[in-house]
Amino acid sequence: MTVWVRAPGKVNLFLAVGRAAPDGYHPLATVFQAVSVYDTITASPAVGFSVTMGGLGSGLPVDASNLAVRAALALAEYAGVEARAEIRIDKQIPVAGGMAGGSADAAGTLVALNELWGLGLRALQLRGIGAGLGADVPFCLMGGTALGRGRGDQLMPLLSRGIYEWVLVMQKEGLSTPKVFAEFDAIRPDAPEVPEVDDHFLAAVTQGETELVARSARNDLAVAALRLHDEAQAVMEVCRLAGLAAFVSGSGPTIAVHVPAEKSPDEVARLLLDALPGVRCVHASGPVAGAQLL
Ligand code: C5P
Repeated sequence: MTVWVRAPGKVNLFLAVGRAAPDGYHPLATVFQAVSVYDTITASPAVGFSVTMGGLGSGLPVDASNLAVRAALALAEYAGVEARAEIRIDKQIPVAGGMAGGSADAAGTLVALNELWGLGLRALQLRGIGAGLGADVPFCLMGGTALGRGRGDQLMPLLSRGIYEWVLVMQKEGLSTPKVFAEFDAIRPDAPEVPEVDDHFLAAVTQGETELVARSARNDLAVAALRLHDEAQAVMEVCRLAGLAAFVSGSGPTIAVHVPAEKSPDEVARLLLDALPGVRCVHASGPVAGAQLL
């Protein structure tokens, strides 16, 4: 019996970042939206344990640095079972792109193995295991739209009306999340201890004012990420000149460009491609569900 799971990537519609705590982690106040770019995780019964990566993940290491491997081992330990499975991950979410690709794989692996091993763990238990693996794993399990506090792992689902259409501009060269946070520390020594999400922003999300949300999107990591990535900076500049609402997703370098009501995703992508030939544009919409069985 092979189990199939689809796990979404995310964008941060709002990302307020505070000063690093003594453990090095930065307190966040963020609004996550799961979007329709998916990694597919398949898990089959096996005598041993193996993980193979395909799609955008071809060639990625499958040792303990791989979040899906860590997820499988953490689940086996939690449940007191042997980690026996053949796992295949087909990646469509960019690697080191600020879209929680690694976390999506961890989330998808938890859901897949919970089913394959017949563990019957509840969503909250999986989320607890996920939180120990990475800050974005709980949200990849939950999906939809959510407010994230703490490291981004203390989640509260948000009522969100409307469907958001995005053109996601992905880059060949990714960005290291710790490097972006380090750059943030250098730029913003005055960051607040407790970051907050703007009340007006939350109201716009609830009311489904998609254009307003896209235009008021804020990302405190953007300056740091764009300083480290000239191509992403160029995408932002093209969007500014074209009057398109665009923002860096998470720690970047993926740029989320909002598709306004009067334009089609193809038109937006064409505009970007005309200005920046060869750039990789992917149409996505959100919010979508979290990691789930197919
Ligand atoms: O938890 P995750 O593995 O996604 O985080 C990767 C790195 O990003 C951390 O080791 C830390 O350097 C940085 N980070 C942070 N503050 C957060 C989340 C991540 O400084 N809230």
